[in-house]
Amino acid sequence: MTSAAHTDDADWDAYYRRTAGREPRPLLLDAMAHVPAKDLRPASAIDLGCGDGTESLHLLRAGFHVTAVDRESAAVELVATRARRDGLDSGLTAAVEDLEAVEPPRADLLLSCMSLPFLGPTALATLWERILAALHPGGVLAVNLLGDRDSWAHGDTAVAGMTFHRRNEVEAMMSGLGILQLEEHEFDGPSGRGPKHWHRYDVIARR
Ligand SMILES: C[S@@+](CC[C@H](N)C(=O)[O-])C[C@H]1O[C@@H](n2cnc3c(N)ncnc32)[C@H](O)[C@@H]1O
Repeated sequence: MTSAAHTDDADWDAYYRRTAGREPRPLLLDAMAHVPAKDLRPASAIDLGCGDGTESLHLLRAGFHVTAVDRESAAVELVATRARRDGLDSGLTAAVEDLEAVEPPRADLLLSCMSLPFLGPTALATLWERILAALHPGGVLAVNLLGDRDSWAHGDTAVAGMTFHRRNEVEAMMSGLGILQLEEHEFDGPSGRGPKHWHRYDVIARR
């Protein structure tokens, strides 16, 4: 008998190896276009659940001061090593922290690519308040969330400990912010747990 899947049993080292050499996520590139560069330089950014650090590196190269956070020490070592190698480490603060406890510093851009859904609903709701408080007025928020039609949300393929949202719930989370982009993507594709149906929101908003 196999035990049910849980968010805490993810093999993130394997994920970083599998995605090595990837391009920065389109969510980041779209979000950066909304950060008013000239009056905010040097702008500050936070990358929550930074993984291999590809987005943090891209932000450092663009002149941002970046705080990169992940629970996996392998991830934080990767981003720090990559920044040092490229002579960008003076702009980086990298920390091994659990998103359940992190207090994000104030920032002009808060990014979280495919990381927030790995928190449970209570932890994510608490973090969400801290995320909103961290954004400077005019600051930009760019996050992925997973939808209720995702394979990991139900049935034999369910992964416990994660959070999935209906569209109206995503819209409610953005109340008080100006929504710049709210895209919903559904497709069948690979994952670290095998092929699955993805239901993902790509959200960009301004405080
Ligand atoms: C799918 S990866 C995404 C990494 C990167 N942002 C990207 O776009 O490739 C999810 C990341 O979230 C991190 N993560 C998951 N749960 C976490 C938690 N509770 N606290 C901190 N990081 C967490 C994992 O260690 C992993 O690096």
